[in-house]
Amino acid sequence: MKFSLVGLALAGILSSAHGALPGDSVNGKRLHNANCLGCHDAAVYSRPDRTIKSLDALRVQLDGCSHMAHRKFSLLESQDILKYLNDDYYHFP
Ligand code: HEC
Repeated sequence: MKFSLVGLALAGILSSAHGALPGDSVNGKRLHNANCLGCHDAAVYSRPDRTIKSLDALRVQLDGCSHMAHRKFSLLESQDILKYLNDDYYHFP
C-alpha cells in the first residue's frame, strides 16, 4: 500500500517534470499571432542572446508584454500562449 502511493507520487512528479504545461498551444499561437507581432516577431524567442532563461521569467515577460500590447488575457488565454511559446521555442522543463 505504502509502496504504491510512493509510486503514484513519483509518477506525478515525473510527468510534470516532462513539461506537460496545461493549455492549448494551437489557441495560444492564434492569440499570439493576433496580438504579439506588433513590436517584434517570433525571432526574439529563438535568437542566441534571448533574455528569458526560465518558465517563471517567461511568465513575467508575457505579463509585461501583454500589458504593453494593451491586452488583458484571461488566465486560460495566458496559459495557452505560455504553452505555445514554451512548446515551440523555449522548451523549459
Ligand atoms: C508594445 C510592444 C510589444 C508588444 C505588443 C509585445 N512585446 Fe514582447 N517584447 C517587447 C520588447 C521591447 C521586448 C524586449 C526585446 C529585446 O530585448 O530586444 C520583448 C521581448 C519579449 C520576449 C523575450 C524574448 C527573449 O529575449 O527571450 C517575449 C517572450 C515576448 N516579448 C513575448 C511577447 C508576447 C507573448 C506578446 C503578446 C502578448 C508580446 N511579446 C507583445 C515589446 C513588445
